[in-house]
Amino acid sequence: MQNVFKDQALAGKVAFVAGASSGINLGIAQHFARAGAKVVIISRSVEKIAAAAKTMTDEGFPALGIAADVRDYAAVDAALKQAHDTYGKIDIVISGAAGNFVAPALGMSANGFKTVVDIDLNGTFHVFRACFQYLNRPGASLIAITAPQAVNPSLFQVHVCAAKAGINMVTKCLAMEWGPAGVRVNAISPGPIADTEGMLRLATTPEAERAVKARIALRDYGTKTDIADMALFLSTDNAKYVTGSIIDCDGGAKLGDAGADAIGNFG
Ligand code: NAP
Ligand code: COA
Repeated sequence: MQNVFKDQALAGKVAFVAGASSGINLGIAQHFARAGAKVVIISRSVEKIAAAAKTMTDEGFPALGIAADVRDYAAVDAALKQAHDTYGKIDIVISGAAGNFVAPALGMSANGFKTVVDIDLNGTFHVFRACFQYLNRPGASLIAITAPQAVNPSLFQVHVCAAKAGINMVTKCLAMEWGPAGVRVNAISPGPIADTEGMLRLATTPEAERAVKARIALRDYGTKTDIADMALFLSTDNAKYVTGSIIDCDGGAKLGDAGADAIGNFG
């Protein structure tokens, strides 16, 4: 069996990563570049996406950054076409663009709710719907980035919970429709990941961070590499029989509160 974690596991592959100017998705793109893939990344900001692509080209890896807003189907399609024109095919697509802020429903305008649903859920449909015609089929791997909020109702996260729940269903529906074409569609559900914008927004103080960790079974944040390793596995033939799956990589976050009371049960 191929060792997916060894260098060059993605040699010859082309990967398109949406929402990759920073954080978890940039971590995936960089991991894939080091594993031999040619990488195309998109996000809204011309400057941020160019700087992100440069982190890879500076290491000598082929990488292209394109500014595109996932809420704009035509822009997503144009970016995918440019990726395909540049590298000749697309084997792997990651849809991870997202927005989040903490707000109670009554402190959230209709546009605030719509904005997050548009980026996360509609954006994921746009990326996956538009990529199909460019995919190297059979054998292509599509991965959405979801979150524990998709299944755990969370205070002040109604927009994210609704959007991520929708992403899980998009993942499963497209896996059913596109399996016969040899296209696998899965999602990764990260738990709290260190040094990310997402956790800066959700746990804003050291006390809040400690409280989050105290409730997780594994008692710590994950790393961007934890998520990138999972994405790498899903993008190789080692995962060739995996589709329609929501893979938790969350230290047990989806299990619910594993805090001090739970520990107390061991006496
Ligand atoms: P991040 O660094 O803020 O990444 C979000 C990315 O999305 C940025 O590159 C941003 O770049 C891009 N983006 C935002 N709106 C966009 C749009 N309309 N069109 C295109 N790109 C857009 O956040 P992160 O914390 O690493 O999160 C990455 C993913 O992991 C998200 O899907 C998030 O829900 C998920 N997740 C994160 C955690 C965590 O602990 N951080 C936990 C569970 C799930 P621009 O500003 O340049 O557009
Ligand atoms: N509380 C309540 N409402 C908020 C808010 C907050 N903290 N932040 C934004 N909103 C509302 C705005 O008021 C606006 O609604 P309105 O027009 O009725 O006033 C709506 O959300 C859209 O805001 P806007 O700033 O115009 O959207 P944008 O498209 O420029 O940015 C966001 C999208 C709001 C999600 C922004 O936070 C963002 O760009 N996030 C990307 C990075 C990120 O969130 N990373 C973490 C990923 S998990």
